[in-house]
Amino acid sequence: MNVLSQITLQYALDNIVDLVVITDMKSVIQYVNPAFLKITGYTAEEVLGQKPSIQKSVHTTADTYRQMWEVILAGGWWRGEIINQKKSGELWHSNLSISQIRDDQGTPFAYIGISRDITEMKRLEQQIFDMGIEAIYMLAMAAEAKDNVTGSHLQRVRFYSEAIARELGLSEQEAVEIGYSSMMHDVGKLHIPDAILQKTGKLTPEEWNEMKRHPEKGAAILGEKSFFQTARDIAACHHEHWDGTGYPAGKRGTQIPLCSRIVAVADVFDALTSSRSYKNAWPGEVARAKISEGKGRHFDPKVADAFDQLYKRNVINDIMRKYPIE
Ligand SMILES: [Fe+2]
Ligand SMILES: [Fe+2]
Repeated sequence: MNVLSQITLQYALDNIVDLVVITDMKSVIQYVNPAFLKITGYTAEEVLGQKPSIQKSVHTTADTYRQMWEVILAGGWWRGEIINQKKSGELWHSNLSISQIRDDQGTPFAYIGISRDITEMKRLEQQIFDMGIEAIYMLAMAAEAKDNVTGSHLQRVRFYSEAIARELGLSEQEAVEIGYSSMMHDVGKLHIPDAILQKTGKLTPEEWNEMKRHPEKGAAILGEKSFFQTARDIAACHHEHWDGTGYPAGKRGTQIPLCSRIVAVADVFDALTSSRSYKNAWPGEVARAKISEGKGRHFDPKVADAFDQLYKRNVINDIMRKYPIE
């Protein structure tokens, strides 16, 4: 390496906005660049000779670090997001790339980590997500208000559905998506006349036929964008039954999207345990037995079993307590 390229390298490391950390093979820090000091709040004296783990927060799992080392030791670049801690204790989101540095013979002699502070980007991402959820909630509330159903019904159905999805082994991301999408299950009621929704007596066959159109109306309101696919499936199929006796299409078994089979259990359980103009609230145990009874008929047996497990472990009761029935 000639003098010029050495100067250029040092200059680059000292001046880039990304944080650079170089350690020896024992993970002892040999170099950090000014950007590192600026973001983390440490002085060079405080970090040189230490290990990068001084920045560790409890928010990055041991599993993430294990995967990181697997990739690095195999000679690759590990790239991922971790949450680190500054000297002050404040957390920051790091988009990190880390790898071994090898000599001409291919023998590793150091590690280099390059990270970017993405805290602000993460905050904005979260804000956009929260705004989306809020808009979904408001739209769902507008539909439910027509039916005198309260916001706490939506919250309970949301978190029952999320818990069932997790219990069935779906990923965290899928569970969360099924949860918030479930709030729009009855959005199609916006198109159903109040006279039908609020009628206390028995519906005439014509009125009932009109009522049964709320799933397709809901799916139509949710448009065609791919990010509402789960919400559309739930709106369209939450009244389908496992044995094919539901509406509107009479789909059966796995023809019914899993998200809809999940919300069907959550929605029915909540309707049973809530009081409506035509019925009193049922005790939780009685509603639970009703769900089990519907296994293989109204409900997907696996979903009903997952619900029962959650009930047994008090997860359902905890959600009920958190979002009480008004
Ligand atoms: Fe419905
Ligand atoms: Fe509902």
